[in-house]
Amino acid sequence: MLDKIKELKAEIEAAQLENKEKLEAFRLRFISRKSIIGDLMGEIRNVAAEQRKDVGQGLNMLKNLATGKFKEAAEELDNLNNNINEAQPDLTLPDVPNQLGTIHPISQTRDKIVSIFQRIGFNVADGPEIEDDWHNFTALNFPPNHPAREMQDTFFISKNPDKVLRTHTSNVQIRMMENQEPPFRSIMPGRVFRNEAISARAHCIFHQIEGLYVNENVSFQDLKNTLYYFAKEMFGSNTKIRLRPSYFPFTEPSAEMDIYWGLKTEADRKITKGTGWLEILGCGMVDPNVLANCNIDPEKYTGFAFGMGIERITMLKHKIEDIRLFFENDVRFLRQFSTIG
Ligand code: PHE
Repeated sequence: MLDKIKELKAEIEAAQLENKEKLEAFRLRFISRKSIIGDLMGEIRNVAAEQRKDVGQGLNMLKNLATGKFKEAAEELDNLNNNINEAQPDLTLPDVPNQLGTIHPISQTRDKIVSIFQRIGFNVADGPEIEDDWHNFTALNFPPNHPAREMQDTFFISKNPDKVLRTHTSNVQIRMMENQEPPFRSIMPGRVFRNEAISARAHCIFHQIEGLYVNENVSFQDLKNTLYYFAKEMFGSNTKIRLRPSYFPFTEPSAEMDIYWGLKTEADRKITKGTGWLEILGCGMVDPNVLANCNIDPEKYTGFAFGMGIERITMLKHKIEDIRLFFENDVRFLRQFSTIG
């Protein structure tokens, strides 16, 4: 009997349980009620008394060995099956397509304008959206109580210290001129805020791009050439421009630039108010007071600045009639500006 136990021990140890069938055969032979170990247990009473203890212990050892080995192998097979299920996706499931986003039309226009100016040596500058009175107004030659402040319906945040939501990106030109030495040749895109009633034509949040060039001997002719280049790159090489005198506190002289839109259709007539011309941006020569406010010598340096609304240009380019569409994030609108396929 003891020899038999030794034999079975070797057999259990050698058993390879790499699949379900072998596992089940192993269970039947060594673990089930009718297993060989069970049979041998039944025969203990026939064993000579002096061997009985050893045989009993030997059979218990076999039982534990077999159960241990069975459990371990069953677990391993289980894990293996799980892994196989993970590695093999169910190819019969319906497809869940990845929805690609699109670049917002405002970002597309901004990127286009920025790249047009980068090509002629402008770099990109940034500034805060929460601004003090000095950078948004006073340094830009808006004296206290000057009526021009009324033109920009301001959101005030606090009185002391005075904080406003910037009403234009012109604050960035002040911050730049205060902190660096000329020459400057920068383009400054950003969000601006005005306390206006929201309508199809106006919003309380919109985007501007401002440009600034300050150096020795910068002339109005440079401004005009730069803007003409921009208009042709943005609206096509046949684009015509005109400059009309205007007023901004921070530029002198100041102008507004129109592009010729045409008068071919009734819609053209409506959008250009019957003139064929459309206003695109404000511009002018940086007022000497503004340079002086930033400790730049107006006798030595001159400069030009211009500013435009990104929403307005996007609306013109794509014939969009309601500015509110830009802020609603309706994917049916945004998908029309997909640049991918
Ligand atoms: N800051 C002006 C505005 O918001 C635009 C502008 C910028 C005009 C620079 C002239 C020069 O209306």
